[in-house]
Parts: sequence; structure tokens; C-alpha cells
Amino acid sequence: MSDAFVSLRDLTLSYGDTVAVPDLNLDIREGELIALLGPSGCGKTTTMRAIAGLLSPSGGRIEIDGRDVTRVAANKRGIGLVFQSYALFPHLNAFENVAFGLRLQKRPEAEIRSRTEAGMATVGLSGFEARKPAEMSGGQQQRLALARSMVMEPKVLLLDEPLSNLDARLRLEMRNELQRVQKETGVTMVFVTHDQAEALALADRIVLMKDGEIEQLGTPAELYAAPATAFAADFMGFENIFAARDGRLTSETGALPLGFEAPAPLLAWRPSGVQVGSGPHQGRVRASSFAGGHREYVLDSEIGAITADAPIEQAEIPIGGMVAFDLPHATARALSQ
Ligand SMILES: Nc1ncnc2c1ncn2[C@@H]1O[C@H](COP(=O)(O)OP(=O)(O)OP(=O)(O)O)[C@@H](O)[C@H]1O
Ligand SMILES: [Mg+2]
Repeated sequence: MSDAFVSLRDLTLSYGDTVAVPDLNLDIREGELIALLGPSGCGKTTTMRAIAGLLSPSGGRIEIDGRDVTRVAANKRGIGLVFQSYALFPHLNAFENVAFGLRLQKRPEAEIRSRTEAGMATVGLSGFEARKPAEMSGGQQQRLALARSMVMEPKVLLLDEPLSNLDARLRLEMRNELQRVQKETGVTMVFVTHDQAEALALADRIVLMKDGEIEQLGTPAELYAAPATAFAADFMGFENIFAARDGRLTSETGALPLGFEAPAPLLAWRPSGVQVGSGPHQGRVRASSFAGGHREYVLDSEIGAITADAPIEQAEIPIGGMVAFDLPHATARALSQ
């Protein structure tokens, strides 16, 4: 692809005899925010380490900004790194933490001052210059780590689960902050997460990985609406996935008649796509929980557990009670495998 800024070509990444990533091909555009999403051990960190130059590929090549950097040292690639443990220098104050890389480069003092101040302003930390990391909140430390990478003006910024140390509220705040900084500065970002909500919220495109390979690649809207496989669907919140054959939905425990022609061997429904209170099937309420705008049920059915969201206005069905439900054609997602 001609508009690729970071290009991974037939990339093979191994640890000794163990191949973690067998043959990766990925094009990342300039200014794009890409999320690498996938379960633990699928090769996200391995891929990031290769892009950063911390892991030498056993095959294939990496291009950044039109240049083959496969054999180029990590510190010559123009890449910034922010990892889960943000590894700030505890003995240096916030200003010196951010200025650190510029000092290493022996930049003039005036430039160090102006770039560091600008970097701290970008992440909303003006006024915190004299604080030590230990005197700052988790979110502030995270932003400091981001500023420290950003002042080096990297071509590409790699972030490996940078928000995983933060509590839910801070994560949300930092998520917005990251997106804002990225759009403002136009830096190309590769962001690793195993949280689908985070990937959906942040990314321009999501790379969903499984066993070192790309399972699906697309915009958040594409992946959310049209996961292609059971693995992708599961990641995108389709909690009810069943085999469909001969006009029936089947599982290990039984079968249910399907009221329509199955368009694929697997069908999936989100909890919000399951109809509760009416329909051709019967389920027994195993669990019921209040979730604000809706109520979440787990129903025991002929084909096993069904998770279903019901409108909060609907009268609550007690645990152990029977309820009618439907897996409607309209909300079914057809999956190839
Ligand atoms: N230093 C290592 N030596 C040997 N195998 C490794 C090493 N690091 C990772 N692996 C293996 O490579 C595979 C990919 O690991 P990787 O760290 O890239 O996963 P990940 O997607 O980042 O997972 P997580 O979400 O848990 O961080 C895993 O099977 C892992 O066990
Ligand atoms: Mg990892």
C-alpha cells in the first residue's frame, strides 16, 4: 500500500524455537491511531517490541516512513514508547523527567525548556514541574510518561497497555486525553489493549489478533457491526453464539427451532439483540442483575445459557421463573467460522 507509514511485511517473530508471530502483514497510515486488540499471549507486545527495535525479527521486514528499519537500532528509529509500568525516574521532578531525553541529546537549554514546557502543557501538567512522580496521582504520572515520549517528537508512538494501572474513571479520562493529544499532534500511534471498549473508543482502526495472526482488521464501527468469525464476535460482545443447521440452532445440550433460513453455519446475538418476554422459546431465569438502563438476564434454555438484556421498564422476572424469549432474525449476525 502506498500510503503506509509503518509497514510490516511477512514479519516472523520468535523466541528461540517458539514462533509467537508467524507471518504478519500490516500497513499503518501516517497520523493513524491503531489499536492492537486480542487476548493474553496473542502477540501484541511481541509485535510492538519488533516495531520498536527491541526484538529482532526472524523473518520479514519493517518499514517506517519509507525506510527499511529492520536492522536499524531501537534508538535510531524515531519511535517513542510508553509501557504499562511507566518507569518514571523517581528522583527527578516532573520537568526533568520530561526533559530527560532532550538532555541526552544535548539540546540547547532554551530549547529544552520550551519543548518540555510545551510537552507538559499538552498533557495538562503545566504547574506540576517541581513535583516528584511520587507526589502525583496515577493519572498524572501516566500523562507525564506520555509527555516524556511526546517531547522527543517520535514518528511513531507505541503504547503497550498504558492505562491498565489506572482505575476505571482515570482510564476513561486518559483515553480521551490520548485521543486528543494524538489528533492535536498528528503522531502515528499504535496502542495495545485487551479491552475491547478501549479499542472501540480510541482507535481509527482495530487490529484484532489471535495466536500471532490478524483475525480481523477494520474500523471500530466495522468490527462492532460485522465481526467475521466467532472469535471476533465474542470479542465484540456477541455473547450468544450457536451452530445453525437444518433449520435449528444446536449446542452440546440440545436444539431449538430456528424460524428462518440460517445464512451461515454460526449465528450470534448480542444480549441486547435477544428478545425477552415474548417469543417461541422458553428459558428459566438463572441470574438477573440491574444494569442501569436495562436488566441483564441469564436464561437456561435447551441450547444452554442465553444472556439477554431486557428494558428496565419490563417487570422483573424472578430467579427460577420461566420466561419466553426469541433469538430474532433481525438481530442475528451470521458468522463464517
Ligand atoms: N521472552 C519470551 N520468551 C519466550 N516466549 C515468550 C516471551 N515473551 C512472550 N513469549 C510468548 O510469545 C507469545 C506472545 O506473547 P506477547 O507478550 O506478545 O503476548 P501479548 O499479546 O502481549 O499478551 P498480554 O495481553 O498478556 O500482554 C506468548 O505465547 C508468550 O508466551
Ligand atoms: Mg503484552
